[in-house]
Amino acid sequence: MNKYFSARIIARVIPLCVVLLPFGKASAQSQTEDAKMNVFVSGLLKKMTLDEKIGQLNLVTIGAPTTGSVVNKGVEEKIKKGAIGGVFGIWGAAQTKEVQEAAVKNSRLHIPLIFGLDVIHGHRTIFPIPLGMSATWDMDLIKQSAHIAAKEATAEGLSWVFSPMVDIARDPRWGRISEGSGEDPWYGGQVAKAMVQGYQGTSMKNADAVMACVKHFALYGGAEAGREYNTVDMSRIKMYQDYLPPYKAAVDAGAGSFMSSFNTVDGVPATGNQWLLTDLLRKQWGFKGFVVSDYTAVNEMEAHGLGDLQMVSALALKAGLDMDMVGEGFLTTLKKSLQEKKITQLEIDQACRRVLEAKYKLGLFDNPYKSMDVARESTDVLSVANRSAAREITKHSFVLLKNDNQTLPLKKTGMSIALVGPLANNQRDMLGTWVVAGDWEKSISVMQGIKNVVGDGVTINYAKGSNITEDAEFIKRLNFGPGMVSIDPKPADELLKEAVDAANKSDVIVAVVGESQSMSGESSSRSDIDIPEPQKNMLKALSKLGKPMVIVLFNGRPLTLTWENEHATAILDVWAPGTEAGNAIADVLFGDYNPAGKITATFPRSVGQIPIYYNHKNTGRPYSSGPTKFKSNYLDISNEPLYPFGYGLSYTTFGYSDVKLNKTTLKGNETLTATVTVTNTGKLAGEEVVQLYISDPVASISRSVKELKNFKKIKLQPGEAKVVSFAITPEQLKFYNTQLKYDWEPGKFVVQIGTNSSDTHSASVWWTK
Ligand code: BGC
Repeated sequence: MNKYFSARIIARVIPLCVVLLPFGKASAQSQTEDAKMNVFVSGLLKKMTLDEKIGQLNLVTIGAPTTGSVVNKGVEEKIKKGAIGGVFGIWGAAQTKEVQEAAVKNSRLHIPLIFGLDVIHGHRTIFPIPLGMSATWDMDLIKQSAHIAAKEATAEGLSWVFSPMVDIARDPRWGRISEGSGEDPWYGGQVAKAMVQGYQGTSMKNADAVMACVKHFALYGGAEAGREYNTVDMSRIKMYQDYLPPYKAAVDAGAGSFMSSFNTVDGVPATGNQWLLTDLLRKQWGFKGFVVSDYTAVNEMEAHGLGDLQMVSALALKAGLDMDMVGEGFLTTLKKSLQEKKITQLEIDQACRRVLEAKYKLGLFDNPYKSMDVARESTDVLSVANRSAAREITKHSFVLLKNDNQTLPLKKTGMSIALVGPLANNQRDMLGTWVVAGDWEKSISVMQGIKNVVGDGVTINYAKGSNITEDAEFIKRLNFGPGMVSIDPKPADELLKEAVDAANKSDVIVAVVGESQSMSGESSSRSDIDIPEPQKNMLKALSKLGKPMVIVLFNGRPLTLTWENEHATAILDVWAPGTEAGNAIADVLFGDYNPAGKITATFPRSVGQIPIYYNHKNTGRPYSSGPTKFKSNYLDISNEPLYPFGYGLSYTTFGYSDVKLNKTTLKGNETLTATVTVTNTGKLAGEEVVQLYISDPVASISRSVKELKNFKKIKLQPGEAKVVSFAITPEQLKFYNTQLKYDWEPGKFVVQIGTNSSDTHSASVWWTK
């Protein structure tokens, strides 16, 4: 009948107005809303057949397969029969409307579908990858990016986004470290909250709001050896203390849905894990939304060794999973399981109720076509305003890793630049890993961005210099989509010679190098996290010329940059910056914006140090300095990372005073105030992220050496000083003990404030109960 069922669709700081109601009024209002919803959903459930109820639990894709090999068949017929509750893989007001009509006009009960998509770091206007976004340390900007994504997504018929991804990751070999906010649980929670608020707005019924789907629940970032989809196994204390807080923060922020992860948690796959999906998520945390599986994760429990499809589907439903993504285990086996009394009617009703409630909360029963408005597509998608917000936000995500001799910023006039590297004149790799609806042809290359910012003011001597990689096997794996990485027909030495010639003619070298788009993200684990060899060879040849060499680094993960740190004059980390890449990079290279980003995942010196993270334990034989034997260290490398968590430079410099405390002994629920004075000691205005860490040196369990507890981002004019204060309460001293009780223990605490996790000033207090 129509192209959306037969053809595969080819994949391919707005402060939110918070309506402040007195608490009593707000909760009374939401109780009435809940009561209305209950009446509506209960009424609908009474009319539904068993097959229709099971149908609501079925999520299918009608686009090209994005992350698995399975695609659903016979979707149109199933929609008409009421055998599908939601779809993903298509977008566009007209396209989604056509599919919605099949459900609303042709199915017996006219229940609307929910339309989801992987909107991860922007929908059409693409923002930096989430690891880059997290480097902004700016929750308003993060919220704004999610809000713009929601606005664009709703303009194209969507009401549900598979984001935020809040998995803590301490292993940069894992390609999906790019999709999260790094290694810190508290900071991850702040970002999770900002993203949920940005997506869902004040009400999911709003025309520009979508339902968030928090993923991947849980612990997915703990994959052994950084290998994708690998086993996760950790103690409960580690889970609660270091991995679960961002998911919990997302629940507290009101996230409407969760996605179960592919991995095991305590030996049981997350998708069929009752402790995780019911005891923890619903009973302990009070989550009220619905849980969808990851792509065919129900079926994958067979490979995990939990039984055949009927068994694992029943296990998942009983565990608390409500919707089955793509695999149709629920659709094809739950009826039989009910007849055989392996599951109960109540379990099916409960899952169905949660899916219907989500549709109700989104306002889809009032208007199933609510976001399918062709007119909005032309005004709200990739608009000038969205692109200019993206340019602004993107600049804030860049991290200056090195800047000797104040090489950066570059002068806008009277100089010549050798612009070299396979990512310098490249649009394809600007967007990053997870851009289902993003169009790379709309992105700004670095070369174009420089021209836009400096015009004819500087002479650009361009040379590609090298391929991204020349490893044929690697390229095959990177090219899971057509033409992602191609090899230049020119021989490697010719490419290299062109770069050297360009450099010889120029005052400064700007080498744009690193990872291409498909080197990070799902199923993109790497055992070697160096800049790929041909690019590194180019850098080595250029470094011999004795000219200032600036590296503009593209990366979906922390890379090992020991050589680069020694030989480059400056390094600007730009992650995968998104649609406005080149413009934002040029703004920073030429000083229109002074970079202030800080890394949220530790950069190791070598893969041998992984996992490496700042909030580690002390061990019984900690190494600090002096003789190394029989201490916790390596024979061949230092314990220290190359760049610690929270690190990032500026074009100006900041001085920190000692930490002042308003008292040094406290009791019970008193508040401690810790203060530093931060001074801009350089010549340019700049922003600084002032970070607060606390250590708890004596406790009933061995605690992390320090933990981030707060931060403030401040702006200082040259010579200006600001007093920065942090209020500290016992809430920030709490941790999970061996009984998993979340509490604090009296004793000494060391308060540390500084520019990154390694460079702090400290002062101690005694705090009794
Ligand atoms: C990924 C999820 C994604 C889903 C749907 C899976 O493979 O793990 O993050 O949302 O596919 O595309």
